[in-house]
Amino acid sequence: MKFFIDTANIEEIKKAAEWGLLDGVTTNPSLVAREGGDFIELLKEIVQIVDGPISAEVVATDYEGMLKEARELVKIHENIVVKVPLIKEGLRAVKTLTEEGIKTNVTLCFTAAQALLAAKAGATYISPFVGRLDDISHDGLDLIEQIVTIYENYGFTTQVLVASVRSPLHLIESAMMGADVATIPFSVLEKLFKHPLTDSGLETFLNDWKKISE
Ligand code: G3P
Repeated sequence: MKFFIDTANIEEIKKAAEWGLLDGVTTNPSLVAREGGDFIELLKEIVQIVDGPISAEVVATDYEGMLKEARELVKIHENIVVKVPLIKEGLRAVKTLTEEGIKTNVTLCFTAAQALLAAKAGATYISPFVGRLDDISHDGLDLIEQIVTIYENYGFTTQVLVASVRSPLHLIESAMMGADVATIPFSVLEKLFKHPLTDSGLETFLNDWKKISE
């Protein structure tokens, strides 16, 4: 399973990269707005830190506008993946971009039907939003199971990128279902390391060692 970090914060990206865990980065307009500054400059910095797919989202919502933005974004670096919203015009743009050899990440996916359409359009990644479904009392992980099954049934090559991850459990359950990628906020990445028995066990080992080395 590939791990992407879901942030536009340079310090978080640097730290996760140092841990040797990072396969890529995803951003969205809200995450970029939180950091402020120039989007293109930010992307230029990110591609220097992580050698893997970096998702950058278009903000146009019409076909021509999305294509124009996408073609500019991919000029920044070969690792840029164009993030496109799951709307009719968006999937039309994905089909064209795929024909041009540009990688895409279809975002804001909330149903298996939408994921099926994205795969048929030739998307490189589909981003189902698990946490936001949980927020409205739908089991977001059910969606991952449906998409993984459908893609396997038909041999679609679109990769399932679990997004809106809120907890380690989202990650583990998705991994058990065979999702290809998870994009994980920094706070959740940190939680993955933690277990109280690891901490207390290590403390005991070190204390015992001290007794024989004193
Ligand atoms: O980037 C897309 C997605 O991961 C957003 O997550 O936490 O804003 O629902 P969240």
